[in-house]
Amino acid sequence: MIDHIVYPAPGALTETGLDPTLDLEAGIARLRREHNAVILAHYYQDAEIQDLADFVGDSLDLSRRAAATDADVILFCGVRFMAEVAKILNPTRTVLLPDAEAGCSLETSCPPGAFREFREAHPNHVALTYINCSAEVKALSDIIVTSSNAETIIRQLPQDQPILFAPDRHLGAYLNRKTGRDMLLWPGTCIVHEQFSERELVRLKAHHPDARIAAHPECPEAILNHADHVGSTSSLIRFVEDEPAKTFIIATEPGILHEMKKRAPHKEFLPAPGMDEGCSCAICPFMALNTMEKLYLALANLAPAVEIPEALRQAALQPIERMLEMSPLPEPAKLRATG
Ligand code: 13P
Ligand code: SF4
Repeated sequence: MIDHIVYPAPGALTETGLDPTLDLEAGIARLRREHNAVILAHYYQDAEIQDLADFVGDSLDLSRRAAATDADVILFCGVRFMAEVAKILNPTRTVLLPDAEAGCSLETSCPPGAFREFREAHPNHVALTYINCSAEVKALSDIIVTSSNAETIIRQLPQDQPILFAPDRHLGAYLNRKTGRDMLLWPGTCIVHEQFSERELVRLKAHHPDARIAAHPECPEAILNHADHVGSTSSLIRFVEDEPAKTFIIATEPGILHEMKKRAPHKEFLPAPGMDEGCSCAICPFMALNTMEKLYLALANLAPAVEIPEALRQAALQPIERMLEMSPLPEPAKLRATG
């Protein structure tokens, strides 16, 4: 059993009880209308899930959408920390996560007890925490950041202010290089972005010398050193759209290629290679847990649903609100609304 999740009631519809001839897309559309639900999806979701979502975005875009929606139900097609943020920001809505097990290796790498000790050992440091963490770790933090606003937020902190950054050490090290800060880093990593191979990337680039490389800052430094652009998922999409190059090597979860191909249909996108030839290790195993069947079941059962105790929600809300106050608003034209 996962914390903060209300599971389907006994007797609820299950995958084995689903009629195999059911048109899932039509069924999801019907249930969405019946429950006045909005479907939010991250760029790492399967193409068919992105296509039926009302809005697709990066972590920051999705937080803003979740906070602003007047739908009664938010079906969050992403991972648990994202659905928790939606519930923290908009607690009167029912927030559904198609698969309660959809976690994140960064969240797992930073248990709240150990993070509390880390904080207590550095009482003069501001705790800047990546949104990929549990509600408990957020509640112990001063400011939450995402990969799209972290640099801007750091630059707003006084130069002599010591900072500790958790849980992604690659993103933290990248931000240190970018801003000239010396943030203390928690040793967490993303299992997906860690597996790209520098050697194979250099080989691929040699075969495509005109290709531009776009990488997510969760990648290790050895990969980022080769990148022409480093940024959040939405920033990578803007880069491939705006750059005149015809071929791009993409060092992040390959679900993002779906939106890239839609925005720039005449360009070629090559997934960055992993350490093991032919493996699909760049696919986030947590994001991949969400399927069309589970979306349908979540809407039919109104579960799994996120529920966060009020005191914890209030404590986690403060550093998230600080983030929103310190982040510039996205350009509206760059946000894609569908459905
Ligand atoms: P973005 O905020 O860039 O969408 O990243 C989320 C994430 O989990 C990357 O692995
Ligand atoms: Fe977490 Fe990595 Fe998956 Fe993003 S890609 S949700 S950081 S495990």
